[in-house]
Amino acid sequence: MAVVALIGAQWGDEGKGHLVDLLADRARLVVRYGGGNNAGHTVVNHLGTFKLHLIPSGIFDADTINVIGPGVVINPEALINELNTLKTSGIATGRLFISDRAHVIMPYHIMLDQLQESSLGEGKIGTTGRGIGPAYADKMSRIGIRMADLLHEETLQSRLSAVLEEKNRILTRLYNAKPISLHDTYLRYLGFGRQLAAHITNVHPLIIRALEQEQPVLLEGAQGVLLDIDHGTYPYVTSSPPGVAGACQGSGIAPSRLTSIVGVFKAYTTRVGEGPFPTEIDGPEAAILRQIGTPWAEVGTTTGRLRRVGWFDAVMARYAAQINGIDRLAITKLDVLDTMPMIRVCTGYQLDGIHLDYPPTTTSDFYRVKPIYEALPGWMSSTTSVRRFQDLPRQAQAYIDRLGQLVGAEVGIISVGPARDQTIMVQDPFAI
Ligand code: IMP
Repeated sequence: MAVVALIGAQWGDEGKGHLVDLLADRARLVVRYGGGNNAGHTVVNHLGTFKLHLIPSGIFDADTINVIGPGVVINPEALINELNTLKTSGIATGRLFISDRAHVIMPYHIMLDQLQESSLGEGKIGTTGRGIGPAYADKMSRIGIRMADLLHEETLQSRLSAVLEEKNRILTRLYNAKPISLHDTYLRYLGFGRQLAAHITNVHPLIIRALEQEQPVLLEGAQGVLLDIDHGTYPYVTSSPPGVAGACQGSGIAPSRLTSIVGVFKAYTTRVGEGPFPTEIDGPEAAILRQIGTPWAEVGTTTGRLRRVGWFDAVMARYAAQINGIDRLAITKLDVLDTMPMIRVCTGYQLDGIHLDYPPTTTSDFYRVKPIYEALPGWMSSTTSVRRFQDLPRQAQAYIDRLGQLVGAEVGIISVGPARDQTIMVQDPFAI
Protein backbone atom coordinates (compact mmCIF):
# COMPACT_ATOMS: atom_id res chain seq x y z
CA MET A 1 0.00 0.00 0.00
CA ALA A 2 1.16 3.52 -0.79
CA VAL A 3 3.30 5.45 1.68
CA VAL A 4 3.88 8.80 0.01
CA ALA A 5 6.21 11.55 1.20
CA LEU A 6 5.25 14.96 -0.13
CA ILE A 7 8.15 17.33 0.37
CA GLY A 8 8.74 20.96 -0.45
CA ALA A 9 11.66 21.01 -2.89
CA GLN A 10 12.52 24.73 -3.09
CA TRP A 11 12.70 27.34 -0.30
CA GLY A 12 9.28 26.55 1.18
CA ASP A 13 5.86 27.92 0.23
CA GLU A 14 5.64 25.69 -2.86
CA GLY A 15 1.91 25.14 -2.47
CA LYS A 16 2.16 21.89 -0.52
CA GLY A 17 -1.00 22.55 1.51
CA HIS A 18 -3.12 22.51 -1.62
CA LEU A 19 -1.69 19.13 -2.66
CA VAL A 20 -1.81 17.60 0.81
CA ASP A 21 -5.45 18.58 1.04
CA LEU A 22 -6.06 16.89 -2.29
CA LEU A 23 -4.06 13.76 -1.49
CA ALA A 24 -5.43 13.46 2.05
CA ASP A 25 -8.57 12.11 0.39
CA ARG A 26 -6.55 9.09 -0.69
CA ALA A 27 -4.66 8.67 2.61
CA ARG A 28 -5.99 7.24 5.86
CA LEU A 29 -3.08 8.55 7.90
CA VAL A 30 -1.42 11.94 7.42
CA VAL A 31 1.74 12.67 9.41
CA ARG A 32 3.33 16.09 9.75
CA TYR A 33 6.97 15.29 10.48
CA GLY A 34 9.02 18.46 11.03
CA GLY A 35 9.26 22.19 11.57
CA GLY A 36 6.76 24.10 13.63
CA ASN A 37 4.48 27.06 13.24
CA ASN A 38 7.07 28.69 10.98
CA ALA A 39 5.18 26.77 8.29
CA GLY A 40 1.93 27.95 6.84
CA HIS A 41 -0.38 26.24 4.42
CA THR A 42 -3.34 27.96 2.86
CA VAL A 43 -5.95 25.34 2.12
CA VAL A 44 -8.94 26.15 -0.05
CA ASN A 45 -11.62 23.47 -0.11
CA HIS A 46 -15.39 23.03 -0.05
CA LEU A 47 -15.41 23.96 3.66
CA GLY A 48 -13.72 27.34 3.15
CA THR A 49 -10.24 28.89 3.20
CA PHE A 50 -7.98 27.92 6.11
CA LYS A 51 -4.48 28.84 7.18
CA LEU A 52 -2.83 25.87 8.88
CA HIS A 53 0.50 26.10 10.66
CA LEU A 54 0.80 22.90 12.67
CA ILE A 55 -2.24 20.71 12.07
CA PRO A 56 -1.91 18.27 9.16
CA SER A 57 -4.09 19.16 6.18
CA GLY A 58 -5.80 15.76 6.42
CA ILE A 59 -7.92 17.23 9.23
CA PHE A 60 -10.64 18.18 6.73
CA ASP A 61 -11.27 14.56 5.88
CA ALA A 62 -13.49 12.90 8.47
CA ASP A 63 -11.96 9.43 7.96
CA THR A 64 -8.30 10.43 8.13
CA ILE A 65 -6.08 10.09 11.19
CA ASN A 66 -3.79 13.09 11.57
CA VAL A 67 -0.52 12.88 13.46
CA ILE A 68 1.91 15.60 14.53
CA GLY A 69 5.07 13.54 14.66
CA PRO A 70 8.02 13.46 17.07
CA GLY A 71 10.14 15.63 14.75
CA VAL A 72 7.86 18.67 15.02
CA VAL A 73 8.46 21.52 17.49
CA ILE A 74 5.15 22.69 18.94
CA ASN A 75 4.02 26.03 20.26
CA PRO A 76 1.08 24.72 22.32
CA GLU A 77 -0.71 28.05 22.47
CA ALA A 78 -0.59 28.40 18.67
CA LEU A 79 -1.81 24.81 18.32
CA ILE A 80 -4.75 25.41 20.69
CA ASN A 81 -5.71 28.54 18.73
CA GLU A 82 -5.56 26.61 15.47
CA LEU A 83 -7.70 23.82 16.92
CA ASN A 84 -10.26 26.36 18.16
CA THR A 85 -10.48 28.04 14.75
CA LEU A 86 -11.17 24.69 13.11
CA LYS A 87 -13.76 23.76 15.75
CA THR A 88 -15.53 27.11 15.22
CA SER A 89 -15.80 26.24 11.52
CA GLY A 90 -17.46 22.94 12.45
CA ILE A 91 -14.44 20.74 11.62
CA ALA A 92 -14.01 17.66 13.82
CA THR A 93 -10.60 17.61 15.51
CA GLY A 94 -10.91 14.37 17.48
CA ARG A 95 -8.68 12.53 15.00
CA LEU A 96 -5.66 14.69 15.71
CA PHE A 97 -2.89 12.89 17.62
CA ILE A 98 0.18 14.74 18.90
CA SER A 99 3.39 12.85 19.57
CA ASP A 100 4.34 12.96 23.24
CA ARG A 101 7.98 13.03 22.03
CA ALA A 102 7.58 16.27 20.08
CA HIS A 103 9.44 19.19 21.62
CA VAL A 104 7.73 22.27 23.00
CA ILE A 105 8.53 25.82 21.91
CA MET A 106 8.83 27.75 25.16
CA PRO A 107 8.56 31.54 25.61
CA TYR A 108 12.34 31.87 25.98
CA HIS A 109 12.81 30.23 22.57
CA ILE A 110 10.69 32.91 20.94
CA MET A 111 12.42 35.71 22.85
CA LEU A 112 15.88 34.38 22.03
CA ASP A 113 15.03 33.88 18.33
CA GLN A 114 13.97 37.52 18.06
CA LEU A 115 16.81 38.90 20.20
CA GLN A 116 19.45 36.90 18.31
CA GLU A 117 18.03 38.12 15.01
CA SER A 118 18.12 41.78 16.01
CA SER A 119 21.64 41.43 17.39
CA LEU A 120 22.79 40.03 14.01
CA GLY A 121 21.79 43.30 12.28
CA GLU A 122 22.63 43.15 8.57
CA GLY A 123 23.64 39.50 8.95
CA LYS A 124 20.23 38.40 10.17
CA ILE A 125 18.73 35.16 8.84
CA GLY A 126 15.23 36.56 8.45
CA THR A 127 13.67 33.86 10.63
CA THR A 128 9.96 33.74 11.25
CA GLY A 129 10.65 34.74 14.86
CA ARG A 130 8.64 31.76 16.13
CA GLY A 131 11.40 30.26 18.30
CA ILE A 132 12.10 27.37 15.91
CA GLY A 133 15.92 27.50 15.91
CA PRO A 134 16.34 27.85 19.69
CA ALA A 135 13.81 25.03 20.29
CA TYR A 136 15.71 22.64 17.99
CA ALA A 137 19.01 23.76 19.55
CA ASP A 138 17.73 22.83 23.02
CA LYS A 139 16.47 19.50 21.72
CA MET A 140 19.95 18.71 20.41
CA SER A 141 21.52 19.96 23.66
CA ARG A 142 19.18 17.60 25.50
CA ILE A 143 17.62 20.33 27.58
CA GLY A 144 14.33 20.51 25.69
CA ILE A 145 10.86 20.04 27.12
CA ARG A 146 8.64 17.52 25.38
CA MET A 147 4.86 17.34 25.04
CA ALA A 148 4.88 14.37 27.47
CA ASP A 149 6.44 16.64 30.11
CA LEU A 150 3.44 18.98 29.96
CA LEU A 151 1.34 16.14 31.36
CA HIS A 152 3.56 15.49 34.41
CA GLU A 153 3.70 18.21 37.04
CA GLU A 154 6.96 17.08 38.67
CA THR A 155 8.86 16.50 35.44
CA LEU A 156 7.78 19.84 34.04
CA GLN A 157 8.72 21.64 37.26
CA SER A 158 12.18 20.07 37.49
CA ARG A 159 13.10 20.34 33.79
CA LEU A 160 11.83 23.89 33.53
CA SER A 161 13.56 25.11 36.68
CA ALA A 162 16.88 23.62 35.52
CA VAL A 163 16.76 25.20 32.07
CA LEU A 164 15.15 28.51 33.00
CA GLU A 165 17.97 29.48 35.30
CA GLU A 166 20.42 29.42 32.37
CA LYS A 167 17.98 31.06 29.94
CA ASN A 168 17.25 33.88 32.36
CA ARG A 169 20.96 34.53 32.78
CA ILE A 170 21.29 34.86 29.00
CA LEU A 171 18.16 36.99 28.67
CA THR A 172 19.07 39.43 31.41
CA ARG A 173 22.87 39.61 31.18
CA LEU A 174 23.44 39.26 27.45
CA TYR A 175 20.33 40.91 26.06
CA ASN A 176 19.24 43.14 28.92
CA ALA A 177 15.77 41.60 28.67
CA LYS A 178 13.31 40.77 31.45
CA PRO A 179 13.63 37.34 33.09
CA ILE A 180 10.88 34.77 32.65
CA SER A 181 8.94 33.71 35.73
CA LEU A 182 9.30 30.02 36.57
CA HIS A 183 6.01 29.87 38.45
CA ASP A 184 3.90 31.60 35.76
CA THR A 185 5.48 29.63 32.92
CA TYR A 186 5.05 26.35 34.79
CA LEU A 187 1.34 27.03 35.41
CA ARG A 188 0.70 28.26 31.86
CA TYR A 189 2.34 25.27 30.19
CA LEU A 190 0.70 22.82 32.58
CA GLY A 191 -2.58 24.45 31.51
CA PHE A 192 -1.70 23.97 27.83
CA GLY A 193 -0.90 20.32 28.59
CA ARG A 194 -4.32 19.86 30.18
CA GLN A 195 -6.07 21.45 27.20
CA LEU A 196 -4.20 19.22 24.74
CA ALA A 197 -4.13 16.06 26.91
CA ALA A 198 -6.80 14.26 24.85
CA HIS A 199 -4.58 14.58 21.76
CA ILE A 200 -1.12 13.87 23.25
CA THR A 201 -0.07 10.25 22.94
CA ASN A 202 2.64 7.82 21.87
CA VAL A 203 1.94 7.86 18.12
CA HIS A 204 4.18 4.87 17.31
CA PRO A 205 1.45 2.21 17.76
CA LEU A 206 -0.96 4.26 15.64
CA ILE A 207 1.56 4.54 12.82
CA ILE A 208 2.60 0.90 12.96
CA ARG A 209 -1.03 -0.25 12.98
CA ALA A 210 -1.75 1.83 9.88
CA LEU A 211 1.30 0.34 8.11
CA GLU A 212 0.42 -3.22 9.16
CA GLN A 213 -3.14 -2.76 7.98
CA GLU A 214 -1.74 -1.47 4.68
CA GLN A 215 -3.53 1.86 5.02
CA PRO A 216 -2.42 4.56 2.59
CA VAL A 217 -0.13 7.01 4.39
CA LEU A 218 0.89 10.56 3.52
CA LEU A 219 3.94 12.22 5.07
CA GLU A 220 3.28 15.95 4.95
CA GLY A 221 6.31 18.16 4.49
CA ALA A 222 6.81 21.68 5.75
CA GLN A 223 9.38 24.24 4.59
CA GLY A 224 11.54 23.15 1.67
CA VAL A 225 14.68 21.16 0.96
CA LEU A 226 16.75 24.26 0.16
CA LEU A 227 16.16 25.37 3.77
CA ASP A 228 17.57 22.06 5.05
CA ILE A 229 19.98 22.42 7.95
CA ASP A 230 22.62 20.21 6.22
CA HIS A 231 21.95 20.62 2.51
CA GLY A 232 20.39 24.07 2.28
CA THR A 233 21.84 27.54 1.80
CA TYR A 234 23.43 27.58 5.28
CA PRO A 235 23.23 29.67 7.43
CA TYR A 236 20.09 30.97 5.68
CA VAL A 237 18.16 27.82 6.49
CA THR A 238 15.70 26.54 9.03
CA SER A 239 16.81 24.29 11.88
CA SER A 240 15.29 20.99 10.78
CA PRO A 241 15.63 18.56 7.87
CA PRO A 242 12.52 19.19 5.71
CA GLY A 243 13.40 16.50 3.14
CA VAL A 244 12.77 12.80 2.95
CA ALA A 245 15.34 11.83 5.58
CA GLY A 246 13.56 14.19 7.97
CA ALA A 247 10.24 12.64 6.95
CA CYS A 248 11.38 9.21 8.11
CA GLN A 249 13.18 10.46 11.20
CA GLY A 250 10.46 12.88 12.24
CA SER A 251 7.62 10.41 11.83
CA GLY A 252 9.22 7.11 12.85
CA ILE A 253 8.45 5.49 9.49
CA ALA A 254 11.34 3.49 8.04
CA PRO A 255 12.76 4.62 4.66
CA SER A 256 12.14 1.14 3.21
CA ARG A 257 8.39 1.67 3.69
CA LEU A 258 8.17 4.63 1.32
CA THR A 259 6.61 3.92 -2.06
CA SER A 260 6.87 7.37 -3.62
CA ILE A 261 8.68 10.63 -2.93
CA VAL A 262 6.90 13.59 -4.46
CA GLY A 263 8.85 16.85 -4.66
CA VAL A 264 6.71 19.97 -4.82
CA PHE A 265 8.06 22.81 -6.97
CA LYS A 266 6.47 26.04 -8.02
CA ALA A 267 6.61 26.60 -11.79
CA TYR A 268 8.94 29.47 -10.86
CA THR A 269 10.80 30.16 -7.58
CA THR A 270 10.08 32.18 -4.44
CA ARG A 271 11.86 32.74 -1.16
CA VAL A 272 11.08 34.60 2.08
CA GLY A 273 13.78 35.77 4.43
CA GLU A 274 17.41 36.47 3.65
CA GLY A 275 19.92 34.36 1.75
CA PRO A 276 21.13 33.55 -1.76
CA PHE A 277 18.61 33.30 -4.59
CA PRO A 278 20.52 33.23 -7.92
CA THR A 279 17.47 33.50 -10.21
CA GLU A 280 15.77 36.33 -8.28
CA ILE A 281 14.25 39.03 -10.50
CA ASP A 282 12.63 42.42 -10.10
CA GLY A 283 10.60 44.61 -12.46
CA PRO A 284 7.48 43.88 -14.53
CA GLU A 285 8.08 40.12 -14.78
CA ALA A 286 8.48 39.92 -10.99
CA ALA A 287 5.18 41.78 -10.62
CA ILE A 288 3.44 39.06 -12.67
CA LEU A 289 4.96 36.35 -10.48
CA ARG A 290 3.96 38.19 -7.30
CA GLN A 291 0.27 38.42 -8.29
CA ILE A 292 -0.18 41.46 -6.08
CA GLY A 293 -3.79 42.44 -5.66
CA THR A 294 -5.05 38.87 -5.90
CA PRO A 295 -5.91 36.71 -2.88
CA TRP A 296 -2.99 34.48 -3.99
CA ALA A 297 -0.32 37.19 -3.91
CA GLU A 298 3.16 35.93 -3.04
CA VAL A 299 2.99 36.90 0.61
CA GLY A 300 4.18 34.53 3.37
CA THR A 301 1.26 32.67 5.03
CA THR A 302 2.92 32.83 8.44
CA THR A 303 4.59 36.22 8.54
CA GLY A 304 2.81 38.23 5.84
CA ARG A 305 6.20 39.16 4.35
CA LEU A 306 6.40 39.78 0.62
CA ARG A 307 8.10 36.83 -1.04
CA ARG A 308 11.13 37.32 -3.27
CA VAL A 309 10.43 35.89 -6.74
CA GLY A 310 12.45 34.54 -9.66
CA TRP A 311 12.72 32.06 -12.50
CA PHE A 312 12.73 28.29 -12.07
CA ASP A 313 16.19 27.23 -10.96
CA ALA A 314 16.86 23.77 -12.36
CA VAL A 315 20.30 23.62 -10.70
CA MET A 316 18.77 23.83 -7.24
CA ALA A 317 15.79 21.71 -8.27
CA ARG A 318 17.98 18.87 -9.60
CA TYR A 319 20.06 18.98 -6.44
CA ALA A 320 16.88 18.77 -4.31
CA ALA A 321 15.69 15.81 -6.39
CA GLN A 322 19.03 14.01 -6.17
CA ILE A 323 19.50 14.26 -2.41
CA ASN A 324 15.90 13.23 -1.76
CA GLY A 325 15.35 10.56 -4.39
CA ILE A 326 12.34 12.48 -5.71
CA ASP A 327 10.56 10.22 -8.18
CA ARG A 328 7.61 12.47 -9.04
CA LEU A 329 7.42 16.21 -9.50
CA ALA A 330 4.40 18.19 -8.47
CA ILE A 331 4.50 21.53 -10.32
CA THR A 332 2.27 24.16 -8.72
CA LYS A 333 0.99 27.55 -9.86
CA LEU A 334 1.53 26.93 -13.58
CA ASP A 335 -1.32 29.39 -14.24
CA VAL A 336 0.78 32.26 -12.81
CA LEU A 337 2.87 32.05 -16.00
CA ASP A 338 -0.20 32.29 -18.26
CA THR A 339 0.53 35.90 -19.27
CA MET A 340 4.31 35.61 -19.65
CA PRO A 341 5.38 35.93 -23.30
CA MET A 342 8.74 34.34 -22.55
CA ILE A 343 9.81 32.19 -19.62
CA ARG A 344 13.36 31.62 -18.44
CA VAL A 345 14.76 28.52 -16.77
CA CYS A 346 18.19 28.43 -15.16
CA THR A 347 20.08 25.37 -16.40
CA GLY A 348 23.50 26.00 -14.86
CA TYR A 349 25.69 28.54 -13.05
CA GLN A 350 28.91 30.28 -14.03
CA LEU A 351 31.35 30.95 -11.21
CA ASP A 352 34.69 32.57 -12.07
CA GLY A 353 34.47 31.20 -15.59
CA ILE A 354 33.69 27.66 -14.40
CA HIS A 355 30.43 25.94 -15.24
CA LEU A 356 28.58 24.55 -12.21
CA ASP A 357 25.63 22.22 -12.37
CA TYR A 358 25.33 21.94 -8.60
CA PRO A 359 25.03 24.65 -5.93
CA PRO A 360 28.17 26.11 -4.33
CA THR A 361 28.68 25.78 -0.58
CA THR A 362 29.40 29.27 0.68
CA THR A 363 27.16 32.29 0.71
CA SER A 364 29.84 34.45 -0.91
CA ASP A 365 30.17 32.05 -3.87
CA PHE A 366 26.41 31.82 -4.10
CA TYR A 367 26.10 35.59 -4.43
CA ARG A 368 28.65 35.58 -7.25
CA VAL A 369 27.20 32.82 -9.45
CA LYS A 370 25.70 33.92 -12.74
CA PRO A 371 22.69 31.91 -13.81
CA ILE A 372 22.76 30.47 -17.34
CA TYR A 373 19.29 30.77 -18.79
CA GLU A 374 17.34 28.97 -21.42
CA ALA A 375 14.34 30.91 -22.78
CA LEU A 376 11.11 29.12 -23.58
CA PRO A 377 8.07 30.63 -25.31
CA GLY A 378 5.05 31.38 -23.12
CA TRP A 379 1.54 30.19 -24.00
CA MET A 380 -0.34 33.45 -23.37
CA SER A 381 -3.66 31.78 -22.56
CA SER A 382 -5.44 30.71 -19.42
CA THR A 383 -4.73 27.24 -18.06
CA THR A 384 -6.96 27.58 -14.98
CA SER A 385 -9.73 25.35 -16.29
CA VAL A 386 -7.51 22.68 -17.87
CA ARG A 387 -7.77 19.27 -16.17
CA ARG A 388 -5.81 16.98 -18.53
CA PHE A 389 -2.17 17.30 -19.56
CA GLN A 390 -2.98 16.89 -23.24
CA ASP A 391 -5.37 19.86 -23.03
CA LEU A 392 -2.65 22.26 -21.90
CA PRO A 393 -1.34 24.67 -24.57
CA ARG A 394 1.53 23.10 -26.51
CA GLN A 395 4.07 25.56 -25.06
CA ALA A 396 2.92 24.77 -21.50
CA GLN A 397 3.36 21.05 -22.16
CA ALA A 398 6.83 21.76 -23.53
CA TYR A 399 7.69 23.85 -20.46
CA ILE A 400 6.58 21.12 -18.06
CA ASP A 401 8.40 18.43 -20.05
CA ARG A 402 11.58 20.50 -20.01
CA LEU A 403 11.40 20.95 -16.23
CA GLY A 404 11.02 17.19 -15.78
CA GLN A 405 13.99 16.58 -18.08
CA LEU A 406 16.22 19.10 -16.30
CA VAL A 407 15.31 17.90 -12.81
CA GLY A 408 15.48 14.23 -13.73
CA ALA A 409 12.07 13.01 -12.60
CA GLU A 410 8.64 12.50 -14.12
CA VAL A 411 5.89 15.02 -13.59
CA GLY A 412 3.06 13.54 -11.51
CA ILE A 413 0.83 16.47 -10.59
CA ILE A 414 0.32 19.99 -11.96
CA SER A 415 -1.76 22.64 -10.27
CA VAL A 416 -3.37 25.45 -12.25
CA GLY A 417 -5.13 27.36 -9.48
CA PRO A 418 -5.75 27.39 -5.76
CA ALA A 419 -8.93 25.28 -5.60
CA ARG A 420 -8.75 21.57 -4.89
CA ASP A 421 -10.04 20.62 -8.34
CA GLN A 422 -7.66 22.92 -10.24
CA THR A 423 -5.27 20.02 -10.59
CA ILE A 424 -3.97 17.90 -13.43
CA MET A 425 -3.21 14.42 -12.11
CA VAL A 426 -0.71 13.01 -14.58
CA GLN A 427 0.15 10.13 -12.30
CA ASP A 428 -1.44 9.64 -8.89
CA PRO A 429 1.35 8.84 -6.38
CA PHE A 430 -1.12 6.67 -4.47
CA ALA A 431 -1.59 4.49 -7.54
CA ILE A 432 2.12 3.70 -8.02
P1 IMP B 1 12.97 29.80 10.98
O1 IMP B 1 12.52 28.47 10.47
O2 IMP B 1 11.85 30.62 11.57
O3 IMP B 1 14.14 29.68 11.91
O4 IMP B 1 13.48 30.66 9.73
C1 IMP B 1 14.66 30.34 9.01
C2 IMP B 1 14.49 30.61 7.52
O5 IMP B 1 13.56 29.69 6.97
C3 IMP B 1 13.94 32.00 7.20
O6 IMP B 1 14.50 32.43 5.97
C4 IMP B 1 12.45 31.76 7.00
O7 IMP B 1 11.86 32.73 6.18
C5 IMP B 1 12.49 30.40 6.34
N1 IMP B 1 11.26 29.62 6.55
C6 IMP B 1 10.92 28.92 7.65
N2 IMP B 1 9.74 28.31 7.48
C7 IMP B 1 9.32 28.61 6.25
C8 IMP B 1 8.18 28.24 5.48
O8 IMP B 1 7.29 27.49 5.91
N3 IMP B 1 8.11 28.75 4.22
C9 IMP B 1 9.08 29.56 3.71
N4 IMP B 1 10.17 29.92 4.39
C10 IMP B 1 10.30 29.45 5.65
